[in-house]
Amino acid sequence: MNLILLGAPGAGKGTQAELLTQKLSIPAISTGNMLREAMANGTELGKKAKKFMDEGYLVPDELILGIVADRVAMPDCANGFILDGVPRTLAQAEALEEKGIKIDHVVSIEVDDSEIEGRMTGRRVCSKCGASYHVAANPPRAEGVCDACGGALIVRKDDAPETVRHRLEVYHASTEVLKDFYGKLGRLRLVNGSQSIEGANEDILKAIGAKV
Ligand code: AP5
Ligand code: MG
Repeated sequence: MNLILLGAPGAGKGTQAELLTQKLSIPAISTGNMLREAMANGTELGKKAKKFMDEGYLVPDELILGIVADRVAMPDCANGFILDGVPRTLAQAEALEEKGIKIDHVVSIEVDDSEIEGRMTGRRVCSKCGASYHVAANPPRAEGVCDACGGALIVRKDDAPETVRHRLEVYHASTEVLKDFYGKLGRLRLVNGSQSIEGANEDILKAIGAKV
């Protein structure tokens, strides 16, 4: 099963991708995490992406498409994959279609903008594996330490309130249109993201016809 998770910054794409990867036994592919890793490793891709990411702009499509096409061609994606945060523009969605990357369901996690800032100020992410936590809604077992890999939890640079506001604008201007695009293809599933993490996860599983 090949899935896309769509949604505003902070809607819960990363959180749900981690849960779905365990339940469906298919890998989660987060372009945000891949780019942050590239930045941390100082690769050419990381250097090119940095200024866009720090200011909350989208990284150019051609940089994204290369890394996604390579990643979904890896053997662990043979039974399916979950795309978290990609596609994010019409050009990216069209390029996936042109490359013959088949998508079964596009789940849009719906959360009102007014809820997003609180989520972002409380978010902590793992500096090693990218796992997402929240100080109140989803705390780690030990403060400051990732449950999954033991990495140190940090605050993302782009979670500063003014950058979050800008990322929301970018979402509404460039990404939201993908709901129309996939709606017309009959693949769009809307899920309420303004509920508990577990509740949203159950609704996603139902929406894609998987066992809850
Ligand atoms: P990316 O890393 O993808 O960021 P984003 O889309 O802005 O989304 P976030 O990761 O901020 O939020 P999320 O939906 O994953 O929420 P999370 O689960 O963490 O991209 C970052 C940047 O990289 C972009 O700005 C761009 O520059 C670049 N980029 C990446 N992909 C690109 C692409 N394809 N094209 C171009 N550029 C690209 O949850 C948020 C918080 O809320 C957490 O604290 C979590 O614990 C909490 N939470 C989650 N669910 C709930 C709930 N139900 N109730 C309460 N709290 C909850
Ligand atoms: Mg994320």
